Amino acid sequence: MLSTIIYRSHLCDNVSVEILAGLAADANVRNQLFDVTGILLFNGSHFFQLLEGPEEAVNKIYDNICSDNRHNNLVELMRDYAPERRFGNVGMELFDLSQYAQETVLEAVLKKGTSKYQLTYDDRALQFLCTFVEAREQENYLEIPPADSWSFVADETPEPAIEFSQASMEDYSFAFQPIVDPLTREVISLEAKLCNLEGSSAHNYFSCLSPEKVYQADLDSKKLAFALAGKLGIGRKTLSIKLLPMSLVRVPEAVDFLIEQIKANGLVPEQIVVAVTETEVITQVEEFASAIRKLKASGISLAIDDFGAGSAGLLLLAQIQPEKIIIDRNIISDVHKNGPKQAIVQAIIKCCSSLEISVIAAGVERPEEWMWLEAAGVLNFQGDLFAKPRLNGIPAVAWPETEL
Ligand SMILES: Cc1cc2nc3c(=O)[nH]c(=O)nc-3n(C[C@H](O)[C@H](O)[C@H](O)COP(=O)(O)O)c2cc1C
Repeated sequence: MLSTIIYRSHLCDNVSVEILAGLAADANVRNQLFDVTGILLFNGSHFFQLLEGPEEAVNKIYDNICSDNRHNNLVELMRDYAPERRFGNVGMELFDLSQYAQETVLEAVLKKGTSKYQLTYDDRALQFLCTFVEAREQENYLEIPPADSWSFVADETPEPAIEFSQASMEDYSFAFQPIVDPLTREVISLEAKLCNLEGSSAHNYFSCLSPEKVYQADLDSKKLAFALAGKLGIGRKTLSIKLLPMSLVRVPEAVDFLIEQIKANGLVPEQIVVAVTETEVITQVEEFASAIRKLKASGISLAIDDFGAGSAGLLLLAQIQPEKIIIDRNIISDVHKNGPKQAIVQAIIKCCSSLEISVIAAGVERPEEWMWLEAAGVLNFQGDLFAKPRLNGIPAVAWPETEL
């Protein structure tokens, strides 16, 4: 199958434009050997390259290009299949946009093309090319410094973890992981995550229960989360707990139970955020909405967790507006080099800003992910980069410190 990859990148400041002709000539020879063709546009600072050919060969060449240190901020814009080549004449041709007048440059680029229909039908690859040639969308080029320009340093020793368990769930407990604002060095909230006594994920907790018991167990487990938070002395900090949305519907008086447990442990409803995961299908929307009304009326805030990974998505957001949205870690991972993920995150940020909903990026593991998200306008983060979850305790936070 004929596959296509398109990316954009930035020529490194310490690399001279003089090398480009030689780079393209070498690329041309290598690509021809692998039956790969394409075009490399350069606008004085940025590259836009389209590679097409047999999938394996295109992937291999692209992998080499990704690790080339003569360019940086490489963002994959498109990976797709096509019936025919758009630039089938040469292995690789360098096209310097600055050599042409603005009115004629697009026509000159398209003249190099070999596809039958060019722009007659909606060909996304050629639309990407037009956008680059016409210098549109440049406000979305969020560029970040190298990963090692920040180091992450935990500057305090955490309080010791506590010994505590609940009779009904001896093999499980909660680990606490902070949600932080790295620029103001503030812990925004602590999330209590259900886990086994080794501190790893608690998948088994639910899988060994019958379907009727899952929701009751989900809710009951929060008793331990609140008790631990009370004992750990979280003060006025916000506490997030994760709940299956249908636990609020299927368990009678679920909200009353939560409020009772919150108060019994010296906490107040206003400091609790209930994060309902979007991955479970909400089948009784009216009953769910009614439970949420009760939750909010008591002072508890609502977050939608795993946003973007589930089945509810934008429709749920249209029906119920939470205080917070936690973007799913699969969207966050490698966001700095993935065009589709960047477009999705930017749309979520814009939508949430219009609705006064705060956005949290979860599962942040790499400095580049944090830098890109911060540049895009996300303020709150959770992930191992800042602090790993700590069983029965609150971990120290590794705050970013600039190396420059
Ligand atoms: C902007 C840019 C575009 C490139 N395009 C190609 C290309 O189309 N084909 C290719 O073989 N190498 C291309 N290269 C060079 C590769 O990154 C790499 O240097 C080359 O494949 C040799 O890799 P190797 O030494 O690991 O074999 C490009 C480099 C840059 C900076």
